[in-house]
Amino acid sequence: MKRVVPRVMGRSSRSDTDGSPGWGPAAAAAGPALRAVGLTRTYGEDESLVWAVDGVDLDVPAGQTLAVTGPSGCGKSTLLQLLGGLDRPSEGEVWLGGRRIDHLGERALARLRRRSVGFVFQAHHLMHELSAAQNVELPALLAGASPRAARHRAAELLHQVGLAHRARHLPSELSGGQRQRVAIARALANDPLVVLADEPTGNLDSAATHDILRLFDELRAAGQTLVVVTHDERVAATADRVVSMRDGTLADDTRLDGNRGRRHGHGGTGLGGTGLGALLSWED
Ligand SMILES: Nc1ncnc2c1ncn2[C@@H]1O[C@H](COP(=O)(O)OP(=O)(O)OP(=O)(O)O)[C@@H](O)[C@H]1O
Ligand SMILES: [Mg+2]
Repeated sequence: MKRVVPRVMGRSSRSDTDGSPGWGPAAAAAGPALRAVGLTRTYGEDESLVWAVDGVDLDVPAGQTLAVTGPSGCGKSTLLQLLGGLDRPSEGEVWLGGRRIDHLGERALARLRRRSVGFVFQAHHLMHELSAAQNVELPALLAGASPRAARHRAAELLHQVGLAHRARHLPSELSGGQRQRVAIARALANDPLVVLADEPTGNLDSAATHDILRLFDELRAAGQTLVVVTHDERVAATADRVVSMRDGTLADDTRLDGNRGRRHGHGGTGLGGTGLGALLSWED
């Protein structure tokens, strides 16, 4: 697999066709890539009221990879969807690249998601009737890139995730791990400010998980801001920082030690002394 080099560090050449102020490197440098302030999302009402996310304050600096862990139902997916503008908070604020996004209108929010957020889900959500290359081209085309530029970018990304030889294949002709690598390439198509991944290895076997771990490591090394929700200790071990959630709140926030080594085997992750094992000890 080639090194994945998202163009996150050199964003200045990107044109901004919606004319909205405050994007690009200056905005990113002005504050964290992502910020949540008092972020709250409730579902239902009265006795069926659920506090899925309950007053979360979180800053994710540009270039940080953050793993979000915690037991099933603690609010991880809800938090991620709020951060990416897929859902709206009941209370609180979400800031992306120095711009408040939680009260944007639907169209502005959709445009922002397309251009500034790359999503990777547990199920790849590729378009079944489109080839791998066409799937990766699509976000760029939707964001207004020329067909030629979109094709070029897709070819580059598929090469970087080691799938140049599968560019013309349909998702049904790819393995689960290959599909997820296409999904990651697609998430990077518009050089997003942040990549948000929800259980990206949840459906994968150990070997395919290993490929995704290598990609995440490459993204981290390239300075891509990445938030990944995961139950997998090996995935969390690729992060700079791990937060664990309990009942909609942040229960723990740990910066991982940079000396622990980042080599992944299919077995252990060499996490001795990082405290990560303890953080993940709810898993059984
Ligand atoms: N659309 C909804 N309507 C009502 N309650 C919801 C809805 N979506 C989520 N919830 C509730 O909000 C809480 C948080 O759900 P969420 O999906 O964020 O958890 P999670 O941490 O991602 O869990 P998992 O690890 O199982 O994916 C849960 O109690 C869930 O039942
Ligand atoms: Mg979830």
